[in-house]
Amino acid sequence: MKILFAASEAYPLVKTGGLADAASGLPAALAGLGVDARIILPAYPEALDKAQAKDQGVALGDPLDAGETRLISARLPDSGAPVLLVDCPSLYDRPGGPYVDAKGHLWPDNHLRFALLSKAAAMVCTDGANGWRPDVLHANDWHAGLAPLYLKQALPSVFTVHNIHYQGLFERKTLQSVGLGDEHFTVNGVEYYGKVSFMKAGLQFSDRITTVSPTYAREIQGPEMGEGLHGLLAARADVLKGVLNGVDYGLWSPAKDKAIAANYTAGRLKGKAECKRSLQRQLGLAELADAPLLGMVSRFTNQKGVDILLDALKGVFGLGCQLAALGSGEARFESALSSAAAASPKRMAVAVGYDETLAHRIQAGADMLLVPSRFEPCGLTQLYALKYGTLPVARRTGGLADSVVDVSKGEAGTGFVFDEATSEGLLGAIGRGVELYKQPKDWRRVQNNAMKQDFSWRKAAREYMSLYKELLL
Ligand code: ADP
Ligand code: GLC
Repeated sequence: MKILFAASEAYPLVKTGGLADAASGLPAALAGLGVDARIILPAYPEALDKAQAKDQGVALGDPLDAGETRLISARLPDSGAPVLLVDCPSLYDRPGGPYVDAKGHLWPDNHLRFALLSKAAAMVCTDGANGWRPDVLHANDWHAGLAPLYLKQALPSVFTVHNIHYQGLFERKTLQSVGLGDEHFTVNGVEYYGKVSFMKAGLQFSDRITTVSPTYAREIQGPEMGEGLHGLLAARADVLKGVLNGVDYGLWSPAKDKAIAANYTAGRLKGKAECKRSLQRQLGLAELADAPLLGMVSRFTNQKGVDILLDALKGVFGLGCQLAALGSGEARFESALSSAAAASPKRMAVAVGYDETLAHRIQAGADMLLVPSRFEPCGLTQLYALKYGTLPVARRTGGLADSVVDVSKGEAGTGFVFDEATSEGLLGAIGRGVELYKQPKDWRRVQNNAMKQDFSWRKAAREYMSLYKELLL
């Protein structure tokens, strides 16, 4: 079986969040099941830099009148997984991130940048690349949302929603510039409150829709979380399924992680204490072995509940906790967190920016990982935390609800779950965590349970494989 997996980012070529982990993790797990899965993504400079075994590329012409385009075949470093890089220098050859420039402003031609990704994916489906043609197109999030539409049902397609909040909304005139007729500007097409929605195109024109957890699949069918697309999602409920993301334990395991100060296992936790000490030292926190150290690795946005944490800080310190946060995002959150850390440097440290190594070191060194998200399609950091014996403090929403079991559930417990998206809710859960932390034997038991959980990609890959098979019947 041959699958083309279209996404705007893939680890380790380019990553701003969990989509990148999923876009490399799922195809790799599919490959483990014998599927020939290839990833297609834009040839951003850093992706071109990091990709290995690049060929000369084949010419695709100028599909959207936005610049000459080539399709380069290459491989991911380490895993060797095959990737196709859509190389259109006029759209992608510039410094900055996949979505924003160095100052954080959205690229003004994002509609073209991602329409071209979709167009190139559809062209590989219909014309092939180097003699290779997939059986199924698997498009991800709004960036690849136009692909099922361009494809015109030439092949079956799956569309995965990683986050319905980001929809890729553009002015009506965009349709023409991406080579699509005005006939698509209808309620049953891609029109969304007077705009063009790339996300809606994916939802409307794919054969199957998935999202990254069963709970989120239910949530987005309702008005509260559906971001205006709940009607469409509910109408397509028969083809909508939630499949929980997985973890690449080759990258995220305390037993072999090279980024952390000492390796450890559930049976031998000495290394975890060393990781904590080392993290405290690196971040300038007081080197107190017994102070519960809370970690957070997150985009600093409203979704992630950063303001909820900010409101809870006094209480967090009152409970004797330390806090180590890594992330970047909205300037107001970056500066509020940084000033709070500057005011209490022995108790709180904030690293603003993107730092893969520090993300691993926080997962290993912290005692608890905070995930106070308002909504969370899946969430990967809590899955990593479980494996590192770092008990998640998570809101009961989306994939968090599907992956963290509250300690009140007895034997099954792996973390501390709360319902209200408020500082009181968060503090209540942290407080319960601190109480358990003071009972080392009980803490160890839950920690052991957390580390035993298996969220490997294999399970998700099997579910996707049966979905693809259904489409090929
Ligand atoms: P989302 O995709 O919504 O941002 P996820 O929990 O699914 O949330 O995935 C976040 C991914 O990005 C994880 O791999 C996490 O470790 C990583 N990450 C987030 N912020 C940073 C950062 N500032 N530095 C390094 N890694 C980060
Ligand atoms: C999105 C979601 C996150 C999910 C990730 C990977 O970025 O916000 O919850 O884990 O995609 O699917």
